[in-house]
Amino acid sequence: MKDEKILFFDTKPYDRQFFGEANREYGFQLKYLNNRLNEDTADLARGYRIISIFVNDMVSEAVADKLSELGVKLVALRSAGYNNVDLDAVYDRIHVVRVPEYSPYAIAEHAVALMMTLNRKIHRAYFRVRDNNFAINGLMGFDMHGKTAGVIGTGRIGKTLLEILKGFGMNLLAYDPKPDEEEASGMGFKYVDLETLYAKSDIISLHCPLTRETEYIINQESIGAMKDGVMIINTGRGKLIDTKALIENLKTGKIAYAGLDVYEEESEFFYEDLSSSFISDDVLARLMTFHNVVITSHQGFFTKEALANIAETTLSNVREFIEGGYLKNEICYRCDRDKCVKAEGEKCF
Ligand code: NAI
Repeated sequence: MKDEKILFFDTKPYDRQFFGEANREYGFQLKYLNNRLNEDTADLARGYRIISIFVNDMVSEAVADKLSELGVKLVALRSAGYNNVDLDAVYDRIHVVRVPEYSPYAIAEHAVALMMTLNRKIHRAYFRVRDNNFAINGLMGFDMHGKTAGVIGTGRIGKTLLEILKGFGMNLLAYDPKPDEEEASGMGFKYVDLETLYAKSDIISLHCPLTRETEYIINQESIGAMKDGVMIINTGRGKLIDTKALIENLKTGKIAYAGLDVYEEESEFFYEDLSSSFISDDVLARLMTFHNVVITSHQGFFTKEALANIAETTLSNVREFIEGGYLKNEICYRCDRDKCVKAEGEKCF
């Protein structure tokens, strides 16, 4: 393994720390870049057959063509989501592996942190008290107990969130095109159609992947079907929400709270320190003016347990590739469209 080189795009000091620790067992040669992968930077992969990318690195068709031309054979995602990779474009030439599970707790707990911050207005209380303002007018919240939560997508994260919300004594509704009825009856949540979920939920939390079907799942029409004063939490992907529709409905009060760990145009801003410059995106800037909107910078995954698991699984994915065997965390357009024809032990191509 000592001769195998991996080029990492879009790395931060914490990536280097956790990959450095995990790599003691593997002994790969790791080269870290700050650059994000896109058409302008794809050339940096020259000389590497294995690269690793994160959520805001883009493997478009043009990037896939370039990587393929350079001889890249494996893209190892350091994320669970893979909407940033054009799976049609890479098929049959570049394998793509991901980290399907690293800590569903990290993201589910962050979703709850957003809910409770918005509900009990901790973000506002914090600044008031620091300013010696001990008045509590305007900070009134509501009991979570007895309210209804609607979870869209009941995979690893959605189910973990439902488990936590059960502890609050909430009524639990969920929607998933592939319902897990056994888990629902065991855990005490109920699958309903989206219309019912929208109509009955006080808090709606998004935990489905970004796909052609789920893009803008939260739009003017779906918001119209929701309760007045609903809270929306998005720790999934930015494009699950039509942000302009969100803003219009925040302005009318139809949506009373929005907790966003992701934003549809986040790649220009998130993970960067822009405190000395200006926000050029008017939609993001408008969103940031609402005191009932809390935005975090795609940090749901950011716990030490999750980072250790991401590093370990990514390097293990790479080792599987080098050994030439079955890539258990491979993703291709067939799996993505639920028509996976790969048998246990086989590669996608
Ligand atoms: P998962 O694959 O375990 O579960 C996804 C679930 O969504 C599945 O049950 C699937 O059937 C369901 N689904 C698919 N299409 C749907 C639709 N049209 N409507 C409703 N449900 C649908 O994935 P996991 O690990 O629970 O992650 C969910 C998403 O969370 C990821 O795709 C990723 O985009 C996002 N994520 C965000 C992170 C962050 O840091 N904020 C970190 C990790 C994941």
